[in-house]
Amino acid sequence: MKSIRILGTGSYVPPKILNNYDLQKMGLDTSHDWIVKRTGIHERRIAGDDVCTSDLALEAAIKALNMAGITAGDLGLIIFATITPDTNCPAAANWLQAKLDAPNAVNFDITAACSGFIYALNAASQYLNSDFCKYALVIGAEVMSRVVNWSDRTTCILWGDGAGAAVLTTGDKGHELLSSHIHTDGANGQDLQVPGGGSLVTPITHDSVDKGAHYLKMIEANASFRVAVRHFIESAREAARFNGISIEDINWFIPHQANNRMTQAIAKGLEVPYERFYITIDRYGNSSSASCAIALDEAVRDGSVKPGDIICMPVFGGGLTWGSALIRW
Ligand code: UT7
Repeated sequence: MKSIRILGTGSYVPPKILNNYDLQKMGLDTSHDWIVKRTGIHERRIAGDDVCTSDLALEAAIKALNMAGITAGDLGLIIFATITPDTNCPAAANWLQAKLDAPNAVNFDITAACSGFIYALNAASQYLNSDFCKYALVIGAEVMSRVVNWSDRTTCILWGDGAGAAVLTTGDKGHELLSSHIHTDGANGQDLQVPGGGSLVTPITHDSVDKGAHYLKMIEANASFRVAVRHFIESAREAARFNGISIEDINWFIPHQANNRMTQAIAKGLEVPYERFYITIDRYGNSSSASCAIALDEAVRDGSVKPGDIICMPVFGGGLTWGSALIRW
């Protein structure tokens, strides 16, 4: 097995801020206090009307390429994790390729909801390990604001828009991706879904739109909370076990950011101080496949992560999907 290296990271969130008070002003039957107490979210970012997922990804990708010191033309592979692609066809990765001017890359999207970035890291590692290419760009990006029902207080408060990216290669330069593990349970994966827009609800009709089939739905959110916490904890333990280290040896946990109470429960379950978890949910909400990628980039750029630190990135998402990455920075 080759050593997989992260050469650069990047992230981008759109400038428009929607805070909890704005949601109240929009007529939603909620309160800032309820949202903060139950989720830890204070505000989230919302893409402009003329901005789509690959636009956010482009900004994050440029930053990652700059940090890596390579150009878009060097890329042989772009893997784009998203559940809100610009279009169902072509792939979001293809829209990004065109905007980046990366003609030598082969591209595809991954649908793994909030675990998407780690799925993409894992897939890119396999391609790099088999010498498919020298440089790969991995993206997690979402415009969740386009698929949430802004009159459904049980879902719309949670989500936000953004993008995170990483440039990977093989060799001995860069930050080592020590492992990545991914898991799927499709048999129990219906609790988070966007039923419309695919072949399940087809064709799109006035009736399906009137019924809100194109909106993201969360069924049994409390049950998925408990399942998520269990899988987050198991994923962190799996990463530590695989690498022959203890949970104590991990300097930073940079998990998918779904709910701050969830993160507190994970910290308690792992018996790790909450201060070792890097948190962005207060500012960005849950940006699905982008969330842990944005958090990683911010933790690197603000100096929280120091050279040699061990970073664990446990994730869980709809589908069901879960997994982890372990990185030595
Ligand atoms: O990214 C991975 C996928 N994400 C998840 O799996 C999400 C996991 N679940 C969660 O994060 C939490 O379950 C939620 C944040 C979605 C909900 O929090 P909760 O503490 O589990 O609340 P609840 O669903 O038990 O609702 C408690 C009460 C209900 O009222 P009643 O029935 O007790 O009268 C809700 O109707 O809070 C009400 N409620 C709200 N009140 C004010 C639900 N949403 C809101 C709201 N504002 N936005």
